[in-house]
Amino acid sequence: MKNEILNTRFVKITLSSPKNGAQYDKISIRPVILKGKDYIQAERFKESKVFHLNVEKNAFNEYIDGLLPLYSQVCIFTAGKTITYFSGKGKVKRSESKNNLKGEVNLSNDREKDYILKEGENIPPLVDLGVFTPDFKVVKSKYDKYKQINRFVELIDDECGKLEKEEISILDFGCGKSYLTFIIYYYFAKVKGKKVKIIGYDLKKDVVENCNKIAQKYGYENLEFVVADVKKDVLYDREIDVVVSLHACDTATDYALYYAISKNVKHIFSVPCCQHEINLSIKKGGDMDCLLKYGIIKERVSALLTDSIRAMILEDMGYKVDVIEFVDLAHSPKNLMLRAKKTREVKLVNAEEIERLQLTYGFEQTLFKLIKDKK
Ligand SMILES: C[S@@+](CC[C@H](N)C(=O)[O-])C[C@H]1O[C@@H](n2cnc3c(N)ncnc32)[C@H](O)[C@@H]1O
Repeated sequence: MKNEILNTRFVKITLSSPKNGAQYDKISIRPVILKGKDYIQAERFKESKVFHLNVEKNAFNEYIDGLLPLYSQVCIFTAGKTITYFSGKGKVKRSESKNNLKGEVNLSNDREKDYILKEGENIPPLVDLGVFTPDFKVVKSKYDKYKQINRFVELIDDECGKLEKEEISILDFGCGKSYLTFIIYYYFAKVKGKKVKIIGYDLKKDVVENCNKIAQKYGYENLEFVVADVKKDVLYDREIDVVVSLHACDTATDYALYYAISKNVKHIFSVPCCQHEINLSIKKGGDMDCLLKYGIIKERVSALLTDSIRAMILEDMGYKVDVIEFVDLAHSPKNLMLRAKKTREVKLVNAEEIERLQLTYGFEQTLFKLIKDKK
């Protein structure tokens, strides 16, 4: 039985009818690819719960060895055939039947096929930036970033792909090494053939210089990077269609949102990061003090409160806001995106509640302050 398992290209294996000593009622096993690596994934069922385990392919032999004595029934599902082993009364019976399973197994847990930008696609700046190898394979250590920028572009495309403008202008706040900025440019200019104007802002001079060099090397017109402190410097002042920020530190996100609001930008895609401000300033004083008692909980609550307030302010400013998990937590612990689209005029419905919270808990919040000071 074990040899057949190891030498068969299976779609799925199930182990059922547990014997004494079996920890789970049933186990279902299938091959998967995680971060470009082969694994065997086991779904282990116990009462009404399911527990997942990913076993590296080269450890599968040992893993299945430990399981086979514990289950009376083992079914090996291949494309078109189901092989069943049943062991009882000291004997093992083998039988075969037909099934309708297809030959092509989707091994990927990562929805590889849905990516807008495919691994292997000729995107030269990604090689310069160290995301792709010279033959356009994703560098292992950059897989999470690749996943993030791919998803980010997908979301932008969903919202802005049909923008009927001759030229689309996009600002990226806290662009850093600018993987995202380059990908957005590549996607709009090279894939969609759109005229775009994109500016990435960052504090770091050397990083900005390097990004400008890469943009020039590939003749990416209208893609530029500028050294700027988005909290105080003068930024691009013409019409802007889209503002993006991916993990812009702490209150840099507030300034990005404020800039977008002030310029009536139609689309905002912002994934915040290191929301320290409220965590550092919040004080006990209300019904929810228990959430401020333990450091790690206080930190997480403060981060969520920060992003809730930002979303509420955007709503007041006339935006339709979605707060979404833009990638799975496995690809980034900072995975909340504020996706906002300007759909109406300013109408203050949340401001009072934010004010009340602020009075109760005494925290500071930059976007709220900027909006209040503007009036
Ligand atoms: C965590 S990195 C993210 C970089 C990039 N967006 C990404 O996701 O790979 C945050 C970037 O924000 C930049 N940054 C922080 N505060 C800033 C400010 N006030 N003005 C401009 N850039 C800022 C930092 O220099 C850093 O490169």
